[in-house]
Amino acid sequence: MSETTYIHGTSPDEQRRLSLMNDVLLNPASLREMALRGDERIIDFGSGLGQFTRAMAREVPRGSVVGIERDENQLAGARRLATAEGHGKLVEFHSGDVLDIDLGSDWGTFDLAHARFVLEHVREPLRVVKNMVRSVKQGGRIVLADDDHDVMRLWPEPPGFNDVWRAYIRTYDRIGCDPFVGRRLVSLLHAAGAAPVRNTSIFFGGCAGMDIFDVLAANMIGVVRTARESILTLDLMDETGFDTALEHYAAWARRPDAAIWFGMAWAEGVRT
Ligand SMILES: C[S@@+](CC[C@H](N)C(=O)[O-])C[C@H]1O[C@@H](n2cnc3c(N)ncnc32)[C@H](O)[C@@H]1O
Repeated sequence: MSETTYIHGTSPDEQRRLSLMNDVLLNPASLREMALRGDERIIDFGSGLGQFTRAMAREVPRGSVVGIERDENQLAGARRLATAEGHGKLVEFHSGDVLDIDLGSDWGTFDLAHARFVLEHVREPLRVVKNMVRSVKQGGRIVLADDDHDVMRLWPEPPGFNDVWRAYIRTYDRIGCDPFVGRRLVSLLHAAGAAPVRNTSIFFGGCAGMDIFDVLAANMIGVVRTARESILTLDLMDETGFDTALEHYAAWARRPDAAIWFGMAWAEGVRT
């Protein structure tokens, strides 16, 4: 049985949220940090809807990119989006579980292995990182990007939102995943046998007055709304408390002084 449980599901709303997050907030900054040369052979572990996988592919015109995704809905969505945007041949999307992946003769052939927002959804992140290290050639890069949910702050605090966020965080550890895996990225690289070389934090907060604030505010609420069923089923909050907090949040998002402080942990290692 696969050791992965994906809290957010794959509904159309979730897919739209991830698309917005990708295009507006995260991909440009992630690409800047990766500083690709243009000829790399890349493997993307847990490629999801594939927007970032394709964004990497556009940066390596003399290279190639393979995306590995376990969820058939995500995989179908990635292929559909790629075709719709005229990128049908840009990336090879393959079905696979990154915990138990078998790359056959491709082991040790990639220049770069990448995983973003995947380690937080698996019970054994080290197993994934070990597979990433094994997938690249000597001197190849391993790039990890993931959440540390503890670093999120909203100000002024919308009433009840901290309770919702804490309940949301608990949905991860209740199913055996680590909501704070972002802070462990460097030690995961080390434990997997790679040499860590760099870490940073990619800011994806913002405040009222910024063009992207609506997207950011919608993303934040989208994140917790997709976990509503898990939060209620696991008895982490009652329904009224949850729904009332989200109403307060909606009003808060229209305030002229609203600010979201959040960041994605990012780390790079090299196979020695
Ligand atoms: C939040 S999405 C991130 C997608 C993409 N990496 C990005 O940054 O946009 C996480 C993806 O990892 C996939 N995933 C989770 N566990 C997996 C596993 N064991 N093997 C392959 N894919 C997995 C999920 O199905 C989901 O599509």
